[in-house]
Amino acid sequence: MKKVKFQQHGDLRGQLVAIEEEIDIPFKVKRVYFMYDTVSGVRRGYHAHKNLKQILFCVHGSCKVLLDDGLIKETVLLDKPYEGLYIENDIWREMFDFSEDAVLMVLASEHYNELDYIRDYDEFLKYKGL
Ligand code: TYD
Repeated sequence: MKKVKFQQHGDLRGQLVAIEEEIDIPFKVKRVYFMYDTVSGVRRGYHAHKNLKQILFCVHGSCKVLLDDGLIKETVLLDKPYEGLYIENDIWREMFDFSEDAVLMVLASEHYNELDYIRDYDEFLKYKGL
C-alpha cells in the first residue's frame, strides 16, 4: 500500500492528470468504478481481496481509507485528485469520512468477481495465517 503522486499537467487553463496502464501504474486496468453521493457518516468497504490490484483516487472532495494487513492499521487521507492509493492483495480496507462532494474512483486489475472477496474479518485473519 502506498500513496503515489501523479504528474499534474497544469497550465493557465487548469490541471490535467494522465494515467497509463503498465507505465504509471503497475497493472493493466480491466475495470473502473466510482462512488459518489455517499451518504454522510457511511463507512463502506469492509473487505479484502485475494487477487486484485487497485488504485484509488478521490478525484473530487475527500475521504479516508483504513488499510489493515492484519497486524498494522493505517489511515490514509485522500483529498487531492492527483494522489492515488495503491492497494495490493490481502489488505482489509474500509472507506469513511466521505465529504458530501466526494467522488472516489478506483482502477482495478481484474473484472468484478465476488469469489475474490473476503468479507469477514476473522476469515481475513485466518487467510493471512494470523
Ligand atoms: P460493494 O462491494 O458493497 O461496495 P464496497 O465494498 O466498496 O462498499 O458493492 C456495491 C454493489 O456494487 C454490489 O451490489 C456489487 C456491485 N459492484 C459491481 O457490480 N461491480 C463492481 O466492480 C463493484 C466494486 C461493485
